[in-house]
Formats: sequence, C-alpha cells, structure tokens
Amino acid sequence: MKFTKDTRALIYNFKANPVQRMLDFDYICKREKPSIAGLITPGSTGLHKAFFGGVEILLPIYPSIEEACKDQTDADVLINFASFRSAYDSSKKALEQDTINTVVIIAEGIPERMARELIDYSKKRNKMIIGPATVGGIQAGAFKIGNTAGTVDNIIACKLHRPGSVGFVSKSGGLSNEMYNMLAMTTDGLFEGIAVGGDAYPGSTLLEHALRFEQMPEVKMIVMLGELGGKDEYTIVEAKKQGKLKKPMVAWVTGTCAKVFPSDVQFGHAGAKSGAELETAEAKNKALAEAGIAVPNSFEDLDKKIAEVYQELVKDGTISPAKEVEPPMLPMDYKAAVSAGIVRKPSNFVCTISDDRGEEVTYGGVPISEIIENDSGIGDVISLLWFKKKIPRYGSKFIELVLIIAAEHGPCVSGAHNAIVASRAGKDLVSSVASGLLTIGPRFGGAIDDAARYFKDACDRGLSADEFVAEMKNKNKRIPGIGHRIKSAKNPDKRVELLKDYAKKNFPETKYLDFALSVEAETLKKANNLILNVDGCIGILFLDMMSSCECFSKKDTDEIVEIGYLNGLFVLARSIGLIGHVLDQKRLKAPLYRHPWDDVLFLNEE
Ligand code: ACO
Ligand code: LMR
Repeated sequence: MKFTKDTRALIYNFKANPVQRMLDFDYICKREKPSIAGLITPGSTGLHKAFFGGVEILLPIYPSIEEACKDQTDADVLINFASFRSAYDSSKKALEQDTINTVVIIAEGIPERMARELIDYSKKRNKMIIGPATVGGIQAGAFKIGNTAGTVDNIIACKLHRPGSVGFVSKSGGLSNEMYNMLAMTTDGLFEGIAVGGDAYPGSTLLEHALRFEQMPEVKMIVMLGELGGKDEYTIVEAKKQGKLKKPMVAWVTGTCAKVFPSDVQFGHAGAKSGAELETAEAKNKALAEAGIAVPNSFEDLDKKIAEVYQELVKDGTISPAKEVEPPMLPMDYKAAVSAGIVRKPSNFVCTISDDRGEEVTYGGVPISEIIENDSGIGDVISLLWFKKKIPRYGSKFIELVLIIAAEHGPCVSGAHNAIVASRAGKDLVSSVASGLLTIGPRFGGAIDDAARYFKDACDRGLSADEFVAEMKNKNKRIPGIGHRIKSAKNPDKRVELLKDYAKKNFPETKYLDFALSVEAETLKKANNLILNVDGCIGILFLDMMSSCECFSKKDTDEIVEIGYLNGLFVLARSIGLIGHVLDQKRLKAPLYRHPWDDVLFLNEE
C-alpha cells in the first residue's frame, strides 16, 4: 500500500474541521483532485459544502459505507471517525468492501478483543488498518489523514506540502507533530509519517510501516519513535539484525523517565505501561542500538542524531536535498480575517427592536426577564417591539383590549371564510391561516390605518364633520372606518361601545374620538349602517392614546400613521380566531368545500 497524490478517501462520521483541513492541505500541495471522494453519515444523504482553495465544492454525503463505495470506486482509503462504540461495526463493514484497501480508525478505547478481530480480518483480506487511537498519518505533498499535522500554517512550517526523504513511524500522534517539526529543521523533511496508535494491539505495526518505507525509493532514511510497554520495537531489532531493514535508521523509545516512579506508571496510551524489564524504554533503546540503529543518549539529543545521519547521506550522495517549493496562498477564512481585523464588511440588515446576542433576548432594549418581573402584558410587549417605547399601562391595556375584541367575529367574515375553505381543501394550519389573513384589506379589517390617516388629517386641519364628509364625497371616496355590513345605529357594535367606554374612562383626552363621533352623526343621516366601525374606532382611539400619553412626539405619530403600523393590530388579533377556525375544521374532519351550482350565476355565451 502506498499513498500518492491521487489517493482518495471516504470519511465515515465526518467532522467539518478535519474535512476542511484535508482539503486545505490538498490545495497547498497542488493536488488536481481533492483527496476526499465522499462523506458517510449513517442514514443521511445530501451534499456538504467545503472550500477547495478559494472555490466552494460540494462533497456527496452517503447513508452507508456500501453506497459510498459503490459510487466512489477510486476511493481506497476509509477514514473512520466513529466513536469507540460503533468503530468496530463500521470498520468491519469498510474492510468487507473490495474497493477499500486501508482503514484508518481514529477512536480510542475500542475493546482489545474487537481490535484483534479486525486485525485478523484485515490480514485475511490483505488490507491495512492504521490505528485505533491514532491521528492517522501524512504523505508530504500528497495525502493527509484527518487532523494529522494540524493547521496549514504548521504544515507549511514543517515543509509537509512537498516530499522530503524521511520515512517516520511512531506510536504517538501528538509526538508525530513535534517530530515533523524536528525533521523539517534537521533534514530535507518528511516523505511519509504514520502514527500507528497507542493501543496494545495496533492494526498495523511499527515494523510493517518500516518495511513499507524500505520498499519506497523516495525514502532514504527511517526515523522511529517507540514508547515504553509492549515488545513491538523488538520486531524492528530482529528485522534489522536479519538485514530486512537496510536503510539508515534513527530510533528513540520514549518513557525513560518511568524509572523515577516507585511503581509501574500507565502513560496516556493503553499500551504505554512497562511491566517486565524488557518492556522498559531503556531496554528497548539498548537493544535498538545494539542492532546497529542510531539511538541518541536522550530525547534532547534526538535532533542531533537525525541531523548526523542525514548529513552523512547527503555527503555520500544518497540524498540530494529536496528543493523548496512555494505553496500557493490559501485564502483566509472570512471569520478568521474578521477576528484578525484584516477585513471589514458592511452589514446587510439593520435591527433596532430586539437583540439576542446577550444572555437573554431584549425587546426594545428591555430584557424579557424584566418584562416578566414587572408583570407587564402583551400590550407592553407590542409597544416595545413595534414602537420601541414603554407606554403607560392604560395605553398597553388599550392594545390588549383591541386584541380581545378583534380576535374573532364569527365564521361568515372574509378571513374566517377563506381559512375554513383552505382547511377543508386539505391545507395545513399555517397555509389556511395565511389564506384568511390575506383577505385583510380596506373592506375587511384593514381600514385602521386609513381611518387614522384621514381623520387625523381632517381634524388637524380643523375641518368640521360636515366639511370632511363633503370633501370625501367630492373626491368620490368612502370614509375609512365608517360603515358596516350588519351593524347599524339600530344594531350597534358592542365592540365599539366597549372601546369608547374604555377611552372615555382612561384616556386623558379623546379629541379624535369626539371628532369621529361628529362625523358618524353626519353619515348616519345618509344611511343607518354608516356607523363608526370597529376599525375606525381602533385607529381613532390610537391617535388619542398617542397624543395624550406624552410618549409619542408629533414626528413619531406622523411616522406611525404614515408607515401604517395599526392594521397590524387587526392582523395579530384576528390570527387568534383564524387559528381557532382551522383547528375546528380539522377536528370536525369537515369535508371538501364546494359551492352548490345555484350559488353561482353562470353566464353562457351563445
Ligand atoms: N363612507 C361614505 N359612504 C359610504 C361608506 C363610507 N365608509 N360606506 C358605504 N358608503 C355609502 C356608499 O357610497 C353607498 O352609497 P350610495 O348608496 O349613495 O351609493 C352606501 O353607503 C352603501 O354602500 P355599500 O357598498 O352597499 O356598503 P356595504 O355595506 O357593502 O359596505 C363597508 C360596508 C365595506 C364596510 C363599507 O362601509 C366601507 O367600505 N367602509 C369603509 C372601509 C372600512 O371601514 N372597512 C372596515 C369595515 S369593519 C371590519 O371589517 C372589521
Ligand atoms: C369583523 O370584525 O370581522 C367585522 O367587523 C367584519 C364583519 O363583516 O362583521
């Protein structure tokens, strides 16, 4: 098995960060194709967006290993990010696939019996496992597994974007990163580095990788970092003695400090515990040195030893040092650039009514906990979110009164009719309610703003009621807020009575209402149903509330009337009734709505 610039991988249980890091590595190595062929998330399908250099690409997401392998036949590596609980099943499944040759198992803590079963199975199928409990490995300038070698900056600093001459194998992934740095300082850099993982039973061993390096013409020297515990390093000793490892080799076994502890110490890795004398770091270092491998006196001297061996090879012509290659500039992530203060961007949206960035959301600058503690009502919330003001309680109670009286007016009105028909036609709650709301307009519930606008204008201009009625008649316009289909002087609208009573009792003054009532007296002379209707009464009383409570400047009031805030009150209130109608129809399982033919006048042209 050998990784190349064309090696492609599937990633099981993918995480966005390692995926992006692999693609960033691919880009700075000038790979033609990204090294990731696809991602696998059990049970999901779709596409994952990621950057390949400066452009965005879409990586397919497959629901199963089988489907990914069937579709991505050139991917022969599967990198398994499954947890230790599911790593066995998924790794086994991956090893069963004909297209997969190498399975990398990142998870720590896989039971040893299961790991050994996987290893047996992989050997039978002539496949390789890297891990478990590993960060993976890297072939410089060609292929990187997951998070190996960290960020792009680190990769470039360690010269991993282009191949060098050293084959490196270690148990520890964390120390590998340290070693890549050391190799970049002491040699022309890494050709390939593998961390076999810290478990007692690694899927592939130090020796197996050392033997692979032996076969790779690009690898001119081998560096191995072992650790105390287990006997793996002795297989290297044996192979060296038997002449199977001919390339110059530097090795060090970490854990020499274990002897200063009074009893056996379990280091981070499951396998890193020396029981018998032979498993100590000292014994292994001694055996490696005796077999003819260059072993320094301490870890601190490892860099010197590597440099020594490397320089010899350069001197005798075995190595002609790799040329430095300038990696292409990797565009910076926008978020990183913003936090570094390198870029700025104008925002697309402005919001002045609420803010959810803190511990709790604020409405008009007031935290919701404060709203609740102050025993405020929905009228206060509306006032904060619509007008960005705290208004006196008589004002917010007026808003609540509007919501109560306008919440519903029976099944025969336009909004309820539409919502009921839509629901009976099988539409869902939101669509049915929306179809009812869409009927709100100048002839149904949507005359509040216009009433406020026209009555304010007439009253502020000092017109008398009859002058206003005549002016509207001359313009051939109906007075918004006047007239009702079923309510009349004889059959007064109780809602209007309730609103008027409330205002008379609670508002400091009601000059707009008084004007509107004088207009009503005029229109009633024309027809009995030309009463001040509920929309008109709401709009006019809102003017009185604003002009008397001292929270609204003239500019505020003009803006509210000009923009048209007040129909929102009817929309909000009537939504309550419309939801009720739709739920009622659903509960009744009402059949599909259809007009009878005699309800329609058909005009058949000859
Ligand atoms: N101002 C002046 N005259 C009017 C008004 C008005 N607001 N409304 C009706 N009239 C007149 C008509 O011009 C007509 O006069 P005409 O016979 O001389 O031609 C007569 O009264 C009857 O008109 P219709 O169209 O039959 O009245 P209808 O009962 O169908 O209309 C409606 C009721 C739609 C409410 C109507 O009065 C109107 O458009 N009002 C203004 C808009 C409004 O306030 N809508 C909200 C209603 S309340 C709610 O939906 C919650
Ligand atoms: C309503 O509140 O829906 C009405 O005033 C309209 C109507 O026709 O009754």
